[in-house]
Amino acid sequence: MISVESLTKQYGPFTAVDHVSFTAETGRVTGFLGPNGAGKSTTMRVMVGLTPASSGRVTVSGRSYRELVNPGLEVGVLLDASAQHAGRTGREILTIAQQTMGLPRARVAETLARVGLTEDEAARRVRDYSLGMRQRLGLATALIGEPEVLILDEPANGLDPAGIRWMRDLLRGFADAGGTVLLSSHLLHEIEVIADDLVVIGQGKIVAQGSKSELLAAAGTLVRTADVDRLARALHEASVVTSPIDGGLRVDADPELVGETAHRAGVVLRELRPADGAGLEEMFLELTALTSRDDTAREGAAA
Ligand SMILES: Nc1ncnc2c1ncn2[C@@H]1O[C@H](COP(=O)(O)OP(=O)(O)OP(=O)(O)O)[C@@H](O)[C@H]1O
Ligand SMILES: [Mg+2]
Repeated sequence: MISVESLTKQYGPFTAVDHVSFTAETGRVTGFLGPNGAGKSTTMRVMVGLTPASSGRVTVSGRSYRELVNPGLEVGVLLDASAQHAGRTGREILTIAQQTMGLPRARVAETLARVGLTEDEAARRVRDYSLGMRQRLGLATALIGEPEVLILDEPANGLDPAGIRWMRDLLRGFADAGGTVLLSSHLLHEIEVIADDLVVIGQGKIVAQGSKSELLAAAGTLVRTADVDRLARALHEASVVTSPIDGGLRVDADPELVGETAHRAGVVLRELRPADGAGLEEMFLELTALTSRDDTAREGAAA
């Protein structure tokens, strides 16, 4: 289990991470989701002791990362897959990790097989790796010590859809065997596929957290009709909250109630379905828009 308690990280006057608290539970894959610059990497760097917290604390299985004697055996870390030494081969990089952690030699070949890198690929220099191959190698380095906890920053970045499915299965198996996985992403759909639980961060602050099913279920119903105004009126009379979307409404009620209300009001529907994360998506898009506006403002001020 990973526990983050009121973690704050300041760079001078700028607060990159602002009183962030969450837990990543054992046996679950927790997705850490936020737009660019939200504070995901900063939080993870603090977690693994690469940068000190301004205040608050992080514990991994009850201890701080710095207290771990041979950390690779307890926490597998993948922070920046492109930071690997470009002149070394994949096998060399993994062998260094194996030796540093004092592991049996056979672990190198086993781990390469586990992440789907062939002998040929392992013999190539990392500078000739595709992004997806780098991610697999980074994951191999994280896994080689057989840790119980994985902390992975954007591990699916650069993977194609089959690669993302492969990673989902690998992380699922890891969590089902009693492991804890925390992985970050700036893409909602990528993380939706992989994670059980979600922690959403925007501008350094946690804006939502819960199980994926809870967060998706909170999204209500999507309904489309040519007669949006009449349907909205009927729903408001039934004290149901609606918000407009293109050609229809997002409704805070289940599809059955929306269908019955439409029927009673004599409104013909074109589409009626659970919103399945549309609420989450809207929230995420708002966060993203907010962040890019801020960046533009900051750049404008600097110019
Ligand atoms: N060493 C640093 N000095 C000053 N500011 C920093 C430093 N590191 C990060 N920041 C700032 O902290 C904020 C959070 O950055 P961080 O890298 O944690 O975001 P992120 O969520 O990982 O984004 P991305 O999706 O782009 O990877 C950004 O505004 C960034 O510019
Ligand atoms: Mg980052």
